[in-house]
Amino acid sequence: MSNDANPSWHRKALEHRSALFAVLVTVGISIGGLVEIVPMYNIETGPETLEGVEPYTPLELVGRDIYVSEGCYNCHSQWVRPFRSETLRYGPWSRAGEYAYDHPFQLGSRRIGPDLMRVGKKYPDAWHWEHMRDPRSTSPGSIMPPYPWLYEKTWSVEDAQASMRAMQTLGVPYSDADIEGAGESMQRQSQEIVASLAKAGAKAQGDEQVVALIAYLQRLGTDGRAAIEAQEAAQ
Ligand code: HEC
Repeated sequence: MSNDANPSWHRKALEHRSALFAVLVTVGISIGGLVEIVPMYNIETGPETLEGVEPYTPLELVGRDIYVSEGCYNCHSQWVRPFRSETLRYGPWSRAGEYAYDHPFQLGSRRIGPDLMRVGKKYPDAWHWEHMRDPRSTSPGSIMPPYPWLYEKTWSVEDAQASMRAMQTLGVPYSDADIEGAGESMQRQSQEIVASLAKAGAKAQGDEQVVALIAYLQRLGTDGRAAIEAQEAAQ
């Protein structure tokens, strides 16, 4: 038994010698720290990647900026969780590598509307064109607000280039040539959407913000699908 009158060896040899005790504590904590820190510098892996995931096109990137600025994330998540109820409704659960070029990612935390992770190519362009102008026209009883101003306001090449430059600093592999060619790429992609809308009888110019938003929505969750399906088939 040890007490203050009859101290233990630990008290006598260590706790009563504060300088020595401090040195030993420092050594102990340093070993613990090194064991955790050193391996981090030795592993090769960075963030998880997924084959087939590419950076957004300039038009999609601008569409993404519109998604953020309109606050769509207040009602929509972009994250299919690995539960059966989710995968039956939305499709394959989300892999970390799918978000590689999403800065900041749009996981969201509220689902007043459905998850949008797998909405890409789910509907034709013309459905989105109608839905964004008047959600109740395509989805009776919808409580999603209409976005009429997206049909009047236009996107700009300069905004796309500024976003691309910002993404470059965050490690998204856009080359300077990609940034220079943004205007041409946006023109081409927006005219493809105009053509598909025209087939459904909707008349767009191509420079409306909603066209960029449609480009973005149609891309969501489509990259890396082959790799995901191969993973799931192998299980
Ligand atoms: C107040 C909440 C709310 C906001 C804000 C909102 N939505 Fe929705 N959204 C909904 C609801 C509810 C639905 C389901 C009914 C429907 O289809 O309209 C929906 C459906 C959708 C769908 C169809 C999803 C599917 O799989 O059928 C898309 C695409 C969509 N929203 C995009 C957007 C975009 C883009 C924005 C921002 C510009 C936005 N939403 C803002 C509530 C919202």
